[in-house]
Amino acid sequence: MSQTTLHTGILAHLRSDPFTRDDALEIIPEGALAVDSAGRIAAAGERSALSALFPGAAVIDHDRDWLIPGLIDAHLHFPQFYATAAFGGELLDWLEQSILPAEAAYADEAFAAEAAERFVARLLSSGTTTAVVFGSEFYPATESLFRAAKAAGLRLIAGITLMDQHAPENLLQTVDEAVDGMRRLIALCAAEPFLHYAITPRYALSCSPALMEACADLLRAHPECYLQTHINENRAEIETIRAAFPNDRHYLDAYDRYGLIGPRTILAHSIHSTDAELSRMAEAHCAVCHCPTSNLFLGSGLFPLRRHLEHGIPVAVGTDIGAGTQFSVWRELAEMYKVQRVQGFGLNAAQLLYPATLGGAKALGLDRETGNFEPGKSADFFVLGYEDNAYLTARLARCASAEEQLFCLLHLAGEREVKTTYAAGGPALRTVQPSACHDFVT
Ligand code: GUN
Ligand code: ZN
Repeated sequence: MSQTTLHTGILAHLRSDPFTRDDALEIIPEGALAVDSAGRIAAAGERSALSALFPGAAVIDHDRDWLIPGLIDAHLHFPQFYATAAFGGELLDWLEQSILPAEAAYADEAFAAEAAERFVARLLSSGTTTAVVFGSEFYPATESLFRAAKAAGLRLIAGITLMDQHAPENLLQTVDEAVDGMRRLIALCAAEPFLHYAITPRYALSCSPALMEACADLLRAHPECYLQTHINENRAEIETIRAAFPNDRHYLDAYDRYGLIGPRTILAHSIHSTDAELSRMAEAHCAVCHCPTSNLFLGSGLFPLRRHLEHGIPVAVGTDIGAGTQFSVWRELAEMYKVQRVQGFGLNAAQLLYPATLGGAKALGLDRETGNFEPGKSADFFVLGYEDNAYLTARLARCASAEEQLFCLLHLAGEREVKTTYAAGGPALRTVQPSACHDFVT
């Protein structure tokens, strides 16, 4: 007989898009989540109703803790794990002076394998259950990232970071080396339902036409692959691209020309995109990832969320480690709030939560699998508890509604309040106990 587990607590998730519907957010104060033995959600609802529906279920009582869908970090860099908070200038100087040298360390396979385990543990311990990651330039390091994700149950979309020009020699691949590495990892992902390959040209400057062509060929041959890259992040970057491609209408053309812009494309940043670019992104059904602390840290600019939404572009959110200054997507949401607030766009709790959960899942085409508590989806969620935090306890006691509490939690809670993360990640539900990773939480 298959065993169901009932997780009881305060459930909070989005049933639909809160930018178009007022009733999208569902909070069930006396809630329960029924998880089947395959790690899938069997039901979500009132505790009393689910107890009656599943009388023989094992119960894990999370008491007054909140159960929230696993967070989706839609953009970050594995080989920048130890390069956060690097002092320096804006994007191009920061890359040259701090980031590319740090990425060279991942040529050491033993170092990279250990970093991969810590990186994955750190994501899970902050509530992230799905991550879209720029891997290393080195094949073995990127393979160890996939293996670490599989072992821990993290849903991973990642790929080798591709560069064959405009970077130090020790980070460049030949086109043949790049294609060989990508083919091997695409084959590895084909056998793993929670691992997805993302073809990853770093950005328009770092890849020759021959490498871009090779990416396009692979994407055509493997339409299951994602394509991730950067766009319109920094003014000096855009000027450099303009000078490099004087006949293009705009930055997007540098990718679009090769057929790299489509429904499985994830474009990081898009801060300075023109209306023509946004229209084309919408037409191609690609997704954009907003990275709040990265944009602030590098002084890149303020992401125009409203313009993206008006164009109908799906928007996800990412930490962009190492330009971003924290591993918690939850904390990024609080910064997203501020980035929008200074532009006169006030987001409510539901709108804040959306890009990190259901909206992010939709942006990645993964909303049949994750993003909320709909039955049949993978049971990806984390437990947020704050009884050890006296201030938060006192602050939430003064809220007039559960939605107001969620808004406060979105601004005031962080990794330390993440008690446990459940990532289905396979047939058995896996649990990451905070004690296993909190030694790494700053
Ligand atoms: N553009 C090209 N490479 C990078 C990178 O590593 N980080 C960020 N933030 N932008 C980039
Ligand atoms: Zn990035």
